[in-house]
Amino acid sequence: MIITDIKARTVPDTRGRPTIETTLTAGELSATASVPSGKSTGSHEAFELRDSDNGSVEQAIENVQFEIARELATRDFSSADELDAFLIELDGTPNKSRLGANTLLSVSIAAQRLFAQADGVPLWKAIATRAGTTPGAPRLYVNMMNGGVHADFKLPFQEYILVVEGAPSEALAVARQAFARLGETLGDVPMGDEGGYAPTLSAIEQPFELLAGLVKEFPGTSVAIDAAASELFKDGSYQLLGKSYSAEELTTIYGSIAAKYHLHSIEDPFDEESADDFTRLTEKLGGKILIVGDDLTVTNPARIADAIARKEINAVLIKPNQIGTVKEAIAAVQATYGAGWAAIASHRSGETDDTFIADFAYGVGAHGIKAGGLGQKERLEKYERLLAIEREAKTV
Ligand code: PGA
Ligand code: ZN
Repeated sequence: MIITDIKARTVPDTRGRPTIETTLTAGELSATASVPSGKSTGSHEAFELRDSDNGSVEQAIENVQFEIARELATRDFSSADELDAFLIELDGTPNKSRLGANTLLSVSIAAQRLFAQADGVPLWKAIATRAGTTPGAPRLYVNMMNGGVHADFKLPFQEYILVVEGAPSEALAVARQAFARLGETLGDVPMGDEGGYAPTLSAIEQPFELLAGLVKEFPGTSVAIDAAASELFKDGSYQLLGKSYSAEELTTIYGSIAAKYHLHSIEDPFDEESADDFTRLTEKLGGKILIVGDDLTVTNPARIADAIARKEINAVLIKPNQIGTVKEAIAAVQATYGAGWAAIASHRSGETDDTFIADFAYGVGAHGIKAGGLGQKERLEKYERLLAIEREAKTV
């Protein structure tokens, strides 16, 4: 495939911050992709290129339209994998700090779409073929309440999630009812960054009590959290609702919450540099629930290999923009599956209307998809795309 034209532009994300969108053309075919942006980012994530003055992405756009356009135009790529390998080599740094992981990912996703079009297959199917995975519907990890940096720490943990089992169409119908029910209970509260409610509650267990009520009312649901504990870690201890807890005390809290509320999973229970605490918690609870790495593993196959060697977790969050190409995000899934662990595909807190993550989750047959709350259009679009895939999968 010869790329005949490349254009990049700025689009706003859900927080109104600029992000990059790229359109690739190959003769008659064309495909567009935009990339999301995190707020509670792991310090080992690949480099997101922003102009230092105001957070704009003009340099990223320039990199696509000049250097990447010029280099791609001289080549004929036989696969999306080959194109990604070329992008990685062109950048030439370990963390994409020269051209930007956001820059590269906008090209990489658009290229994956182009190759799927050229092969006449749906995007999720092209991803499954490329990854060597069995496609299948992920559980919906629906963000019900936001806390942490996504809601000014009104709740200590960053995400309070209802995990909904079943085919996407059934699961989304249940999620809508549960989301509406929680809204009635909470009354007039603002929305957090990820389109879930952002109430102010004063006890650590209060949000869990609310979710337990939903689990009771809606069969096939369970509770999960993303503690995003790197954001809670100050001077060697964890700050929750104005009180300080050691890693041991936090472990005890997780143990009692997990037992009392039958947790499905806990993501980033400790600071990203506290790998030993992850290992201890996984030893304690890993037989019953998923302990998920996000900031810990940052979709980086090498960091996932470390986590496997040290039994730090038993599930991995997969965010393509943490690593910068679809090729490496797929390698992260393959490393995860190699350990017999679960992969959970995830959006970011600053999203666009791009629904790639839905195809990715379905294509790799992920255990779950984190696509946010139902109070934001850009989150709903991912869930709606899963419904479309569910229909498509019946016909191909
Ligand atoms: P982020 O949060 O996109 O702001 O990093 C999402 C997460 O921590 O899972
Ligand atoms: Zn997280």
